[in-house]
Formats: sequence, structure tokens, C-alpha cells
Amino acid sequence: MAAHIFGGPDTTKKLRCLQDYLQAFTIALRNQRFACIYIDAFAGSGSRTEVQPAFPLLGPEFAEPIEVTTPGSARIAIETEPAFDAIILIERDANRFAELKQLAAGYPDRRIILRNGDANERVRRLCKRLKWRSSHGEWRGVRGVIFLDPYGMEVSWQTVEAIAQTRALDCWYFFPLSGLYRNAPHDPTKLDAGKEASLDRVLGATDWRERWYQHETSPADMFETKELAVRRTDVDAIEAYVKERLETVFKGAVLDPIRLHHRNGAPLASLFFAVSNTSATAVRLATDIASYIVNEGRSSQSRSR
Ligand SMILES: C[S@@+](CC[C@H](N)C(=O)[O-])C[C@H]1O[C@@H](n2cnc3c(N)ncnc32)[C@H](O)[C@@H]1O
Repeated sequence: MAAHIFGGPDTTKKLRCLQDYLQAFTIALRNQRFACIYIDAFAGSGSRTEVQPAFPLLGPEFAEPIEVTTPGSARIAIETEPAFDAIILIERDANRFAELKQLAAGYPDRRIILRNGDANERVRRLCKRLKWRSSHGEWRGVRGVIFLDPYGMEVSWQTVEAIAQTRALDCWYFFPLSGLYRNAPHDPTKLDAGKEASLDRVLGATDWRERWYQHETSPADMFETKELAVRRTDVDAIEAYVKERLETVFKGAVLDPIRLHHRNGAPLASLFFAVSNTSATAVRLATDIASYIVNEGRSSQSRSR
């Protein structure tokens, strides 16, 4: 099977945040009689391969780049102890889905549900169908964590809304900052209908046009002026806008994100944590754990820069 090569130097940080949260989540809910589930909407293959650069200066044995394979989000969730009551893995790509099947077969003691298809459609269906608040036998309902880890602008806002409406899922969303600013060029003449539609779909709003683009007048010639729009909004302001959008639907809490970067230092994505549950106890528990994890991630980032 082909290796699933993705991510950059910060991908380990993203997966570490997820791993630490899943571990703390299942420990915290162990005796609370909720069925605990994990949903991986963009599950990948179960492992992640990174190509590490060559170091020819160290001698011929370091002259070639090497491939290093480590657990991806699906494997991390499956191996979490105490175990989730159910793990739902969604993946559209047929080859990666086949690898997930193989991975799941190695854990017969885990309840793993595999879905080959589109994440938006599957997640919305699950959010509507699961009985989040019904008690059944010893169970008081369902609580869970969902991970949205797309390559780019694949998550539609309706999916985010459906997750928030469960009032039962904590959400880690690897939000594609670089996709946003690529689709919203500084020069608005490069903003075509396709890009606008993709921004509307990811953000679930149209007011980014007025918020991000300022109208300015400049001389056209000696006698006339022309009006044009320019994006002056920087990445910080775009990230703040995304947080604002998430806060309109996640009524529990939305934490300040941790910013992840490309190898060349350019912003890649913002890892957001949002709580859909509105119970004060649930919000405090989730945000205490996640804030600690996010702050740890930030300080390790500043140490390594
Ligand atoms: C960044 S990778 C996920 C990596 C994974 N979370 C991990 O840690 O191993 C994104 C994955 O989403 C899948 N994907 C892309 N669009 C999708 C969609 N609309 N529905 C489901 N899966 C999709 C890709 O095939 C790819 O495997």
C-alpha cells in the first residue's frame, strides 16, 4: 500500500494535542455512564509518513531523505486507554479506507465503525441520528470528540453547525488558514466566483467581503480617480474572524487556536477547540483540559523557534 505522506513539521504537534485530549477525555468520563465515542471525519490511513530532509554535510549515509512513519489520528484513537465505547472512522479515498479496515481488524476488542464516503454527508447524518441525550439501561446518553482534519477547504459550514447542534461533541478543527488566504487574494481582481463560493461554504457567511476588503480610491489619470477594493486584513484578523464564526454556533466555548506553520514558516492552519455542550460542568472540564494542552503546544512552539 502507498504511504500516506502528509503534513509538515507541526503535524506532530497537532496529533499530540489530539492524543492528549482523547486520553484525558476517556479518563474523565470513565465513571460517568455516558457512552463515549470518537469520530474521525477525515481519518486517513491510520498512519502518517513524513519525508525528513537529507543532511549531506553529515556524510554519505545521511545524503538521502528518509521516510518516517508514525501513528495517524485513527490509530491514536484506537489505542487510547481507557478505550472509547465506539470509534467511527470516515474516509473517502478507497485505498486509505482499505488500510483502515486492515488496521481495525488488528483490534478485535475495539468497536470500530468504518464508513467509506464523504465526511460532510456522513457527519451530518450521524449528528442527526445518534441519541445524544436518551438514557438506555445504564447509559445516560452519548458524549464524544470529533476531529476535523481536512487537507484544505473540504468542511462545509453546515457540517460545523450540525456538530454544534449535538450539544454533546467536543470538536478539534484543523482550520485551513492557508486555504483561506489563498482563496481571498489581496488583489480582488483575482477573486473569482469559485473562490468566493468556497469561502462562503467554509465560513457559512458572506460578510467576509466587507470585513476583509476595503474600498480605496486612487488616481486613474490626471483627471479621474478609480475605486478599487484591496484586502488589508492580515492572517491574525482572518483567524479572529474564524473564531467569531465558530462562536456563533458553539455555545459552550471556543478556545484561542494554536497556529501551525509550513516548513518555510508561513501560516498553515489554526487548530481550534470548540465545545458544543452548554452544561457548565462539561464546559469547565473540557476547557480546563484543552487549554492546558493548547498552552503546552504554544510554549513548545516558542521554545523551538
Ligand atoms: C490530512 S488527511 C487526514 C490525516 C489523518 N487525520 C491522520 O492523522 O492520519 C485528510 C484525509 O481526508 C480525506 N478526505 C478528503 N476529502 C474528504 C471528504 N470529503 N470526505 C472524507 N474524506 C476526505 C483524504 O483522503 C485524506 O485521507
